[in-house]
Amino acid sequence: MLDNHVGGGTTMVEAIASGRHAVGVDISSLAEFVSSVKATVFSDVELDELSVWATKLPHSIDLRKQSIHFGHYAELGYYKHLEHKSRWRLRKAIEQGMGAAISLGEPRLEAFGRCVVLRTAQWALDGRKSLPSISEFRTFLGEAATAMVGGARALRAASVANGVPTSAIILNRSAAGFEVDERVTNIRPKLVLTSPPYPGVHVLYHRWQVDGRKESALPFMIAKRLDGSGGAFYTMGDRKGSEYFANIKASMGSAAAVADDNTIIVQMVAFGDAQHQLPRYLETMSEIGLEELLLSSLHGEGDGRLWRTVPGRRWYSRQKGDTPGSQEVVLIHRKRAHGIRPLPPQSLTAAQVHP
Ligand SMILES: C[S@@+](CC[C@H](N)C(=O)[O-])C[C@H]1O[C@@H](n2cnc3c(N)ncnc32)[C@H](O)[C@@H]1O
Repeated sequence: MLDNHVGGGTTMVEAIASGRHAVGVDISSLAEFVSSVKATVFSDVELDELSVWATKLPHSIDLRKQSIHFGHYAELGYYKHLEHKSRWRLRKAIEQGMGAAISLGEPRLEAFGRCVVLRTAQWALDGRKSLPSISEFRTFLGEAATAMVGGARALRAASVANGVPTSAIILNRSAAGFEVDERVTNIRPKLVLTSPPYPGVHVLYHRWQVDGRKESALPFMIAKRLDGSGGAFYTMGDRKGSEYFANIKASMGSAAAVADDNTIIVQMVAFGDAQHQLPRYLETMSEIGLEELLLSSLHGEGDGRLWRTVPGRRWYSRQKGDTPGSQEVVLIHRKRAHGIRPLPPQSLTAAQVHP
């Protein structure tokens, strides 16, 4: 299974749990970090070590004690907005959590520990009006660690039961051209399952918002990654969307290049303006040699595609003035039998677009 815009890695986890080999690609080093940790099949020995670590973890948060100061990241500006008098305690608690992760020693275990801190720090800082106390931070940290070790155990158990206890391979690079990447030569996924950036929807994938809308790159520091790029890098274009269709063509074109006649390509997409953008999106898929499969079971009802209204879309609702339509659609394609043959553009009526 391939997800060429892997984001938080949910598809990787589900693939491994159901006994598939999984390959993920993402241009964001933060997405690569999170999905790699979530889609690692840890050994029983590693899981036991992580369980013990999780029970001790809350005790490593003690403001009377020292924390590691990550000077290199401070110089690069990753501490911005964190020295404020309302936030320095949390900054110190996060540094102590990172210290506890580093003390795990082995890179795989340290990455898991950092992911626990990342989740807790996001809960504590991102998009909140009032900050938690240190005691609440400590409690959340311990509970997050225990829950995540439980999740990692469940993933191991499911993958062992299905006979493929293999971690996902995650590449931190653009999906465009990934098919010639030496790390994944000759892959032939049976399933491509992805949710690429959405046209006309500008999401802050790479920043937390502390104290209202102050942007923080802290997640990259916690993940031990660097963020060299602006927002448009992660969304396939600027707010005007001028680059979007060229970029999606390149990235899905590379997915089509590793597909064979039996590969099913499933995408979940939302549109800022579905009436214009869905036909153009479908045209782009046609240009790269994909034909759409409509669900006959839905015929007579709607347009043969699965639509849903998105529940709890918190990352959009925070972004005033940028809120798109709240409908997402699942598109299913496969390689057109006779290769690349541009079809006439589909003309969908507004009623089909908004069933
Ligand atoms: C809609 S999100 C993916 C959401 C994902 N399905 C999840 O559950 O988290 C889109 C992802 O595409 C990534 N992305 C943007 N441009 C990319 C490109 N050219 N190649 C690969 N990934 C890209 C972004 O970094 C982001 O993680």
